[in-house]
Amino acid sequence: MEVTTTLRRSEIKDILNAPKVNETVLVKGWVRAFRAKRFIALNDGSTINNIQIFVDEEKGFDDELLKGISFHACIAVSGQLVESQGAGQSVEIVADKIEVLGTSNPDEYPLQPKRQTMEYLREKAHFRMRTNTFSAVFRIRHAIAFAVHKFYNDRGYYYMHTPIITGSDAEGAGEMFRVTTFDANSAPTNEDGSVNWKEDFFGKQTNLTVSGQLQAEVAALALGKVYTFGPTFRAENSNTSRHLAEFWMIEPEVAFADIYDDMDLAEDFVKYLINYVLDNYADDLEVLDKRIQEEEKNMKKELRRPMGLIETLRFVVENDFERITYTDAINILLNSKPHKKGKFEFPIEWGADLQAEHERWLVEKKFKKPVIVRDYPKDIKAFYMRQNDDGKTVAAMDVLFPGIGEVIGGSQREERLDLLKKRMAEMNIHEEELSWYLDLRKFGGTPHAGFGLGFERIVLFITGMGNIRDVIPFPRTPGNAEF
Ligand code: 4AD
Ligand code: MG
Repeated sequence: MEVTTTLRRSEIKDILNAPKVNETVLVKGWVRAFRAKRFIALNDGSTINNIQIFVDEEKGFDDELLKGISFHACIAVSGQLVESQGAGQSVEIVADKIEVLGTSNPDEYPLQPKRQTMEYLREKAHFRMRTNTFSAVFRIRHAIAFAVHKFYNDRGYYYMHTPIITGSDAEGAGEMFRVTTFDANSAPTNEDGSVNWKEDFFGKQTNLTVSGQLQAEVAALALGKVYTFGPTFRAENSNTSRHLAEFWMIEPEVAFADIYDDMDLAEDFVKYLINYVLDNYADDLEVLDKRIQEEEKNMKKELRRPMGLIETLRFVVENDFERITYTDAINILLNSKPHKKGKFEFPIEWGADLQAEHERWLVEKKFKKPVIVRDYPKDIKAFYMRQNDDGKTVAAMDVLFPGIGEVIGGSQREERLDLLKKRMAEMNIHEEELSWYLDLRKFGGTPHAGFGLGFERIVLFITGMGNIRDVIPFPRTPGNAEF
């Protein structure tokens, strides 16, 4: 039975937001349930909410058609929108005509109408967006991306596209993916047998970028305030719930700003993103909040989160982040119970990088809110960070979040040519490779600062998901590049 073609399709979100009772509507979507052969729950992706379709026996729908209305079949329905008699929805559609657009054999369909493990769904990444959880995650991912642009545009920043293929490897030595058109088995060689990169596509060695920062600095010293938002790639072999080999990063870069301006911007920015989702995606957040409550039902109390998802998000936007120096952090950790009882796996000493376990203890146990740590030892940080007067630390800052650890890493940049050159020499970075970067200090240099927000890390926090692989549509991690 074909549905009326003169009708324009309505999106379920629009119908539910402003129901025009008694009008005839046309909807298209996927069957989430077909109860008692009378009630279809239909979803079209525009919202987490389904619309109920009432299939009146009296209207004589034929059996073959009804059989086609299986779990995740795609259908079109036209009928009258009426106030619903049943509980759980305000309106429903009384079907006049139903057409099966795409059948789906329920016996073979990999998703069953029950809870499935995240690991299983990851293997079925081409289907997982059809679940409530993942459709909510990916609507929210979109919302956060949109809010990123809105935040910066409203404040007069310019969006810069920095290169994805890069010829400078100064920032990511060792962690980069090589880009080449050479055949791995027959690359041209020099006389000494080494690969002759001069013959490669770009006439030199090239890699996928680990960060757009250095190029963003070029833009900031011309346009004042800029940001990047693009994919970045890291070949680090970190098989954790917080690392991806391909992830997205937002990097603002601001002329005339120092490390304190940088921290203020970082705090305003992440609070804005969280508020945007709280204000505009409450339905999706509620579903994710309930998912966590379900998951935690059978967990021991000490393993459960201290607060629900929405409550946590509210708490973060309503409270000032704690701000401490790295040296404070080390002293606090040295005096902490887990350290004294030998519970930390990694040593705590001034000069060593903070490990995830230390960051999480500071955030979750000590301060119970996001923490910004600044002024790290220069030897564990990048060459471009501004050297502090103490000769030991640099004006770097990391924003640490509960459940995740570092979401932002940033710094004030070294604008003093002599000090920058000295640091590069100490760290064995060749000046010729970054002559353009040094030029920014030679011609019209000024203090400036910026940071990088790991996009998936903030999506992870806002959605309350447990693994970063579940907040990017098609994750790339060591040993895995399916789809
Ligand atoms: O701290 P990172 O390495 O900083 C930079 O790349 C600077 N150039 C940023 C700047 O100052 N403009 O990375 C920034 C953020 C981290 O705080 C983390 O949130 C995220 O990027 N990140 C990752 N996210 C997912 N998977 C990975 N493997 C990540 N590595 C870093
Ligand atoms: Mg970092």
